[in-house]
Amino acid sequence: MQIKNVFKNNEKWIKEKLAVDSNFFDELGKGQKPELLYIGCSDSRVTAEDLMGMGPGEVFVHRNIANMVISIDLNVMSVVNYAVDHLKVNHVVVCGHYGCGGVKAAMQSADLGILNPWLRNIRDVYRIHKDELNKIKDEDKKYERLVELNVQEQCVNLIKTAAVQKAYRDHGLKVYGWVFDIHTGKLIDLKIDFEGILENIMEIYHLD
Ligand code: CO
Repeated sequence: MQIKNVFKNNEKWIKEKLAVDSNFFDELGKGQKPELLYIGCSDSRVTAEDLMGMGPGEVFVHRNIANMVISIDLNVMSVVNYAVDHLKVNHVVVCGHYGCGGVKAAMQSADLGILNPWLRNIRDVYRIHKDELNKIKDEDKKYERLVELNVQEQCVNLIKTAAVQKAYRDHGLKVYGWVFDIHTGKLIDLKIDFEGILENIMEIYHLD
């Protein structure tokens, strides 16, 4: 890959956008009002806007290794607070993907240095769902299921935040868990029972 090509591509992209809408960049310059916060994996194969058919201005994006929502990660928590409290998004999505290297690494016994504390959060998901996961004999199936359960637990982590609890009460914000199937390109809705989880964890995690 040649870096100079990136700038050529950019010129081409500007022309394409202006051909469809000559005011495209004037509109973008006015500000953003996205309705969706997308929290996904940093994996280069899993794009955010592209796979949802959305464009600039439509989705607020945060990506990290294995789409984690960790309460002491200032980065993800700032993104959630800004998107929910200030941009007032109505939908928050955690999108995992099959073939996730972060989830795979957490299934293996290896010292990965600085990645250890990050991946430990995925090992915690394994521990919480150990009984279900240990029953799955096929390693690939187990791996896929851990990807799904990790998405589910990150949704639970979102629901534990004051920002999400308040926005649910004030304007009906919802949390969704999805998985991108890297082999087919399909986006799968895990149909996370947002309201059920919220009700269930409120006894302990109620903040607002
Ligand atoms: Co990944």
